[in-house]
Amino acid sequence: MAVDLLLGLQWGDEGKGKIVDVLTQNYNIIARFQGGPNAGHTLVFNGKKHVLHTIPSGIFHDNAINLVGNGVVIDPVIFKGELDKLDEQNIDYKKSLLISRKAHIILPTHRLLDAASEASKGKAKIGSTLKGIGPTYMDKTGRNGIRVGDLELSDWKERYRNLADKHESMIAYYDVDIEYDLKELEDAFFKAIDVLKSLTFIDSEEYIYQAQKEGQSILAEGAQGSLLDIDFGTYPFVTSSNTTAAGACTGLGVAPNQIGDVFGIFKAYTTRVGSGPFPTELFDEDGETMGRVGNEFGATTGRRRRCGWLDLVALKYACQVNGVTQLMMMKGDVLSGFKTLKVCTAYKYKGEEIAHLPYNIEPENVEPIYTEFKGWNEDLTGMSEASQLPSELNDYIAFLEKELEIPITIVSVGPDRKQTIFRN
Ligand code: IMP
Repeated sequence: MAVDLLLGLQWGDEGKGKIVDVLTQNYNIIARFQGGPNAGHTLVFNGKKHVLHTIPSGIFHDNAINLVGNGVVIDPVIFKGELDKLDEQNIDYKKSLLISRKAHIILPTHRLLDAASEASKGKAKIGSTLKGIGPTYMDKTGRNGIRVGDLELSDWKERYRNLADKHESMIAYYDVDIEYDLKELEDAFFKAIDVLKSLTFIDSEEYIYQAQKEGQSILAEGAQGSLLDIDFGTYPFVTSSNTTAAGACTGLGVAPNQIGDVFGIFKAYTTRVGSGPFPTELFDEDGETMGRVGNEFGATTGRRRRCGWLDLVALKYACQVNGVTQLMMMKGDVLSGFKTLKVCTAYKYKGEEIAHLPYNIEPENVEPIYTEFKGWNEDLTGMSEASQLPSELNDYIAFLEKELEIPITIVSVGPDRKQTIFRN
């Protein structure tokens, strides 16, 4: 059976966690394929909010297996924190949570290196979540990393020490003021490693292959968004993994011809957290309203998200790179009350009108060209049927479907599981 993918099409924070949670009833296995605790996937049900960072978003469903794939990087301390929260809610994850032996481990010194690297960049900083993501993927591609499977070997602590010592000399090289107590960080780290070791480690590519052969349904859950992809995002203001569809192949060991549906998640407007270009960013009252009504603060860092109109040029690019087959539009409810809505349908790039994403989208090169739409005043948050949606919103949706040539099959009108409208 083919593996379906779910990914974000913008700069992250699209609401992937909620949709994975909504769709989990259709799947036997939910598998995260990249990223790590830089992600914050928020789920709301039964009046409670849950934030997951590394654990797949199917964990609250009794029957689903949740797999942390080889493409993910794991911070044992944060992972343990997530498990503690599940324990508080009596979620039995011992049998349903599996971890790839090939997933890499974030060391305390990876986080310190992240902080030192960002501090050394000054104004050019990426705005990293400082979770050690970049340095861990650097050690992975540099062939120095420590993997989950290594924890089963007798010499792993020796390898840990060598790598941590090397990191300390690298931190000194940056010559920035970073205060830390490594002994304290390591105490927490090793305690968390013991917890991690009580879980089930697997050869995940083999597990997925066999599950597919047995006809089990699998949903691959992406983190961050396509515009943060290391290759196709707004480099260097990106994360350090492939957040696009290809990342699911390398991050889980799924062959390209085994990919089924690709669900693309996007907000009805655009947000970005951290540095980097954002052509449709708003610095006015409209942007402020989106941020306030949409509660646009990072689930991982609490940072305020930058807000702007929907950028169809960038969205088309993301659909193209991912081969999206179904779209899911989030936070339509946040746009209620705007008299006029704008969608960026082209860029003025170096004096010329273009409709594709160019190499450089810095503000000095790109000016958005907008198409305007009439807004609506109805509160959408209590709606549950497509037939209830205001005609202006239907016009907005129809325009996007026509431009992107992909159906919008879900419109989300609030954070709760129940606030989800399915469209045929
Ligand atoms: P890093 O992945 O923590 O190194 O951060 C690199 C860039 O990606 C920064 O601009 C972050 O704000 C952004 N980023 C990383 N993870 C997420 C996410 O889950 N949602 C939104 N932005 C993210």
